Amino acid sequence: MSDPVHQDLLKTPVEDLTAEQAKDHHAWLCDEIREHDRRYYAESAPTVTDAEYDALFRRLQLIENRFPSLADENSPTQTVGGTVSSGFAKVAHSKPMLSLGNAFAPEDIEEFVDRIRRFLSLEDNDEVALVAEPKIDGVSASLRYEQGRFVCGLTRGDGQVGEDITQNLRTIIDIPETLELDDPPDVFEVRGEVYMSHADFAKLNENQDAAGKTVFANPRNAASGSLRQLDPTITAQRPLRFFAYAWGETSALPADTQFGVVRSFAEWGLATNALTAICRSVPEILDYYARIEGERSGLPYDIDGVVYKVDRLDWQDRLGFISRSPRWAIAHKFPAEQAQTVLQGIDIQVGRTGALTPVAKLQPVTVGGVVVSNATLHNEDEIDRKGIRVGDTVVVQRAGDVIPQVVRVIAEKRSGDSQPFSFPDRCPICGSLAVREDGEAVRRCTGGLICPAQQVERLKHFVSRNAFDIDGLGQKQIVAFFEDGTIETPGDLFRMAELDGQTGAALADREGWGDVSARNLFQAIEERRSISFDRFLFALGIRHIGQATARMLAKTYGTLDALTDAVRQAQSREGEAWENFLNIDGFGATMAAAFLDFFAEQHNVDVVEDLARQVSVEPFEAPESDSPLSGKTVVFTGTLETMSRAEAKARAEAMGAKVAGSVSKKTDLVVAGPGAGSKAKKAQELGIQTVDESAWLEIANTNQIDF
Ligand code: IVH
Repeated sequence: MSDPVHQDLLKTPVEDLTAEQAKDHHAWLCDEIREHDRRYYAESAPTVTDAEYDALFRRLQLIENRFPSLADENSPTQTVGGTVSSGFAKVAHSKPMLSLGNAFAPEDIEEFVDRIRRFLSLEDNDEVALVAEPKIDGVSASLRYEQGRFVCGLTRGDGQVGEDITQNLRTIIDIPETLELDDPPDVFEVRGEVYMSHADFAKLNENQDAAGKTVFANPRNAASGSLRQLDPTITAQRPLRFFAYAWGETSALPADTQFGVVRSFAEWGLATNALTAICRSVPEILDYYARIEGERSGLPYDIDGVVYKVDRLDWQDRLGFISRSPRWAIAHKFPAEQAQTVLQGIDIQVGRTGALTPVAKLQPVTVGGVVVSNATLHNEDEIDRKGIRVGDTVVVQRAGDVIPQVVRVIAEKRSGDSQPFSFPDRCPICGSLAVREDGEAVRRCTGGLICPAQQVERLKHFVSRNAFDIDGLGQKQIVAFFEDGTIETPGDLFRMAELDGQTGAALADREGWGDVSARNLFQAIEERRSISFDRFLFALGIRHIGQATARMLAKTYGTLDALTDAVRQAQSREGEAWENFLNIDGFGATMAAAFLDFFAEQHNVDVVEDLARQVSVEPFEAPESDSPLSGKTVVFTGTLETMSRAEAKARAEAMGAKVAGSVSKKTDLVVAGPGAGSKAKKAQELGIQTVDESAWLEIANTNQIDF
């Protein structure tokens, strides 16, 4: 609050600020205004007069008028009266809203189509028809129609849970209140993109400017900001549009192809994109891409690529999903936008697992509508390979939501006295040796938990969205709690409320906090005292153990006790317990070793045990499934003729089974195709039920088998 630099900057007229000062000052003003909002709204205890508040807000608007790219959707100017999106009710999606994998080069597209062919075991002359359409740069939404009436509309949120913005969506002319259908399905969730056209965006900004309000940086931000208004009458004044291109839960489908369903959308009165086309080969796809790229600048709305989707819905069903994106669709992105700027310095950041990452400090430059002042340099080899030196003029690029990158150096612009960058061999935070393991590009700090950087990064990871997900506890708060000694390990979080005020000031009395916010935080922490096993494992932040792997471990071992037992027995790296780790499908030796290495360190065990005493870890619950394969372990061996290995595995997993790579006493079923060798033999020796491909198909299709 009393930051002297910014108090001073407040006296500088906005037109005299440099781009760099403006960016910094803007961030400070946003924090300041949010804090005043919180004091005013949450605590009813403002510390500034209305006139002082208005002056800060006006200054923020002036800065955003001069530097429109700073006006992102999080700016207080983009929300009404301090209201933020948390004012909307959270509603779970009946089917998750997924994202798309990205392709950039023609080879990526060939690979995409090849993968589909392999997965479906298609013959060379089988045609894979794909629906191609522009990728709209907007905000996705899901519209639920029951008996043809629009009853509920949600944002994407995290893909699992969205926010209820029904009233705002009702103001959009492309979204009908009732579908034009004589006999509408009981349930139909239409999904698509909310966007703003260039013309409407320009008009909106003109009006905003004339009224002394903030202008938006780009149509996407304008659409997102408009949808997040808590007052739908404001959204109604914003000319939003909608394209329907996908669906969620449905009680009946109007067609058996993607193209057919989207055509039905149009018949039902929804807006669909007129550039949607069918492509029947990779060359046709690439022609489509080139055509749309050529038309891009003339289109009345922003697009950032094209999307391809397998047309046949039965194939879409068979292809299914891989983690968060469908195997049957892909986004082919347009090349990233680039700009030139000066590399002012290289900072070294230390991550959760000790990785030293060089970060380019750039003279701020606008790339694709956003001000960029940091970019990743990946690792030391990358700096060498690109010959990057401090002071160089470099090309930076930004593609979508990806972190900006330094592409190359403009050699002609280098000054004579620049020196190659020498990468430190000690951790810049704790001074421990930083080493590169064999075959690794990354240099790591060997300080482990004595390194404050690793400690704080682990804590940030611990509270993050896919881990403990504690409301009101963001990265900034974690850093502050770590620095003032309140929290060192995850267990400390759960002792915070009890120990509050005993050694230092009570949380409610600290800078930036108050009675209400402190109480809310303690309550949010309390709500996480019970945690699912997979989240618990993921939250530990063990190297190589991501969300999917944590889930596999939780599924395989069921409870924390069972897993800890197995870890103890497997530490010798031999015997059955170790074999079982290696046998977890998709869990290679690297992951198994990383996982055991973590538990071989006593300080890690202490942290985990301490945490486990504070929280209750729920045993893993397999998704409800009435399939007889649920919870069983299946091994495929030999060649399968009608179904690819990948499809067989996906199908077994969809039926709740675990798929293992080798046969052991824990195997329940072996599917042996022609050429099955030692695995089939071992199954026989162990007396494990073994079936051939046709029996497997029968099981997959009828969902029946007797064990
Ligand atoms: S299909 C399961 N089609 O892109 C498939 N998405 O990067 C769901 N998007 O979250 C998405 N235009 O917000 C699809 N024609 C289009 C799209 C599109 C824009 C957005 C959408 C999605 C994101 C994924």
